[in-house]
Amino acid sequence: MTETKGIVLAGGHNTRLHPVTIGVCKQLLPVYDKPMVYYPLTTLMLGGVRDVLIVSTPRDTPLLRALLGDGTQWGMSFSYVVQDEPRGLADAFVVGKQFVGSSPVALILGDNIFFGNELSRRARGAIEANQGATVFTYPVKNPAQFGVLEVDARGRALRIEEKPARPRSNMAVTGLYVYDNDVVGVAESLQPSARGELEITDLNRVYLRQGRLNVVQFGRGMAWLDTGTPESLLEASLFVQTIENRQGLKVACPEEVAWRMRWISDDDLARLAASFAGRPYGEYLQGLLAEVGER
Ligand code: DAU
Repeated sequence: MTETKGIVLAGGHNTRLHPVTIGVCKQLLPVYDKPMVYYPLTTLMLGGVRDVLIVSTPRDTPLLRALLGDGTQWGMSFSYVVQDEPRGLADAFVVGKQFVGSSPVALILGDNIFFGNELSRRARGAIEANQGATVFTYPVKNPAQFGVLEVDARGRALRIEEKPARPRSNMAVTGLYVYDNDVVGVAESLQPSARGELEITDLNRVYLRQGRLNVVQFGRGMAWLDTGTPESLLEASLFVQTIENRQGLKVACPEEVAWRMRWISDDDLARLAASFAGRPYGEYLQGLLAEVGER
């Protein structure tokens, strides 16, 4: 079986957060104690994805590269490609065509934060079992701001709409998507929408029409957080702080995830911990090594 590759889409305008994002992209802003992009990246990692393409703007791609490097420090491989204009989410597969090659691919939006018990098992299960496409839904009180999915009594996709004025359900389509290799051809065949973008919802509709759109419903026991406004960004930070302080465990720590996935050794983790010596982040990584044998 070909390994599923991953794409983190971390570009866009992000004008809603101006002036904060005038000088730097949103995905590099902190969510409590780490850069936002660590959250979606570790979601892909928990799904078993090791080979990842980061897509961003001409200005921000070098900054993301400075932060994330080539991935080898976490037993991974990172590539980068510039999206010179925000031409839409489905454009990720056009600019990422070469990277995707003949593999299946999971896409995650660089501002999507997931947290919860079912995340790792269900994301991994869906990535491994995917035939066609898989979308992940989450119940929200403001569905009109998202892609919205309607399902039948057996949970099969019936209809998918982008930001409908009158949503037919409260099931938002989250920013995590899994596709077979046909996705590149499908993305290339799309026409830009009225707002001039290649819409992920149009891409998902193609799979829906073919009867190949699978749905994983995340439940209320999971968290899927917004980061689109100053309020929601602060709430996301407070959420992460609350969980981390309570558990003494970090949310979305890539060093820890890589170590728990056994992509890096104890010695590798010790080296990474040493690179943060004297700082709480390094102490946390060092503390994990005391659990040796239990990861
Ligand atoms: O977060 C989930 C939602 O994401 C879905 O429910 C919607 O169906 C989907 O269209 C998308 O809606 P948004 O309104 O959040 O999309 P937005 O244009 O804000 O882009 C999402 C992120 O992707 C944002 O952080 C910027 C980045 N982006 C966006 C575009 C259009 C890019 O990197 N390149 C782009 O071309």
